Amino acid sequence: MTQHHTYSQQRIQLGEGISIPAIGLGTWPLTGEDATDAVARGIANGYRHVDTAHSYANEAAVGDGIARSGIRRDQLWVTSKLSLEGHSRTKVKDAYAGALERMGLDYLDLFLIHWPNPEHGRYVDTCQGLAELVADGALRAWGVSNFKPAHLDAVYAAGLRPSVNQVQVDPEHLQRAQLEHHRTLGLVTAAYSPLGRAGDFLEHPAITAAAARYGKSPAQVVLRWHVDSGRIAVPKSASDTRQRENLEIFDFTLSEDEISAINALDTGAGPRLDSDEYGH
Ligand SMILES: NC(=O)c1ccc[n+]([C@@H]2O[C@H](COP(=O)([O-])OP(=O)(O)OC[C@H]3O[C@@H](n4cnc5c(N)ncnc54)[C@H](OP(=O)(O)O)[C@@H]3O)[C@@H](O)[C@H]2O)c1
Repeated sequence: MTQHHTYSQQRIQLGEGISIPAIGLGTWPLTGEDATDAVARGIANGYRHVDTAHSYANEAAVGDGIARSGIRRDQLWVTSKLSLEGHSRTKVKDAYAGALERMGLDYLDLFLIHWPNPEHGRYVDTCQGLAELVADGALRAWGVSNFKPAHLDAVYAAGLRPSVNQVQVDPEHLQRAQLEHHRTLGLVTAAYSPLGRAGDFLEHPAITAAAARYGKSPAQVVLRWHVDSGRIAVPKSASDTRQRENLEIFDFTLSEDEISAINALDTGAGPRLDSDEYGH
């Protein structure tokens, strides 16, 4: 198995004395053999962090890819996410057991509440259950996804401290108020759809000029922008070349001015999906 890249990958410290590789491999919307192949190939290409979810219907296939890669479990960071049926202090334990069984793993590194589903009113209890899994030593870290400031405030008011909030961030969706709230709380941000699903902004001069300066691709500049801004990013690629491209970002850094120029592409638009309206 190829071991290159891994030595220089940046990691981000989470509260509990553990650190997560800053770049992870996204796996939505891959399923079946496509997901297994992308994960096994990704690990061979140097990825040490894989992102899946119950709702992607690919946890078993992702688990097969991990097994096929032959990687030692303690060399890999695995994140999954629970759906609405796992919401409650007790049901979250069943959701965790189910994820482990589907993936063929003994533990996860990070388990996230995929959506807050505020109309069901159980996300704070679910956080409590997740914190208990960590306290029991069954899970390394817990977190949330698509939680707005008000949802986070309810969680923190209950004395609970997630390690990560995974939200949609790209140069045109900077979610400034959301990210400022994370900074105030000391909460680490993970960016999903970090390339805006290969958004048009990849052709903007603020990005292509920096790419030309460093001999990098626009996607590499955007991923470096996430990491230089202190965020985790989980780009998805099923292509061997683009998987490697997305990991080859640890041999340059952007200047403050370059980062500001990319931040200036923000449209102020919110995420595609409003988590007060949408969830599963
Ligand atoms: N928490 C949540 O609610 C949530 C929601 C959405 C997504 N996610 C997670 O975030 C991951 C990534 O998000 P995403 O898939 O929506 O968007 P993304 O990673 O921003 O973009 C993926 C798209 O960009 C292409 N691509 C990848 N690398 C590229 C490169 N270097 N140059 C040009 N194009 C490139 C991919 O095609 P190829 O495969 O052909 O390279 C794919 O079509 C998902 O896979 C999932 O794990 C989480």
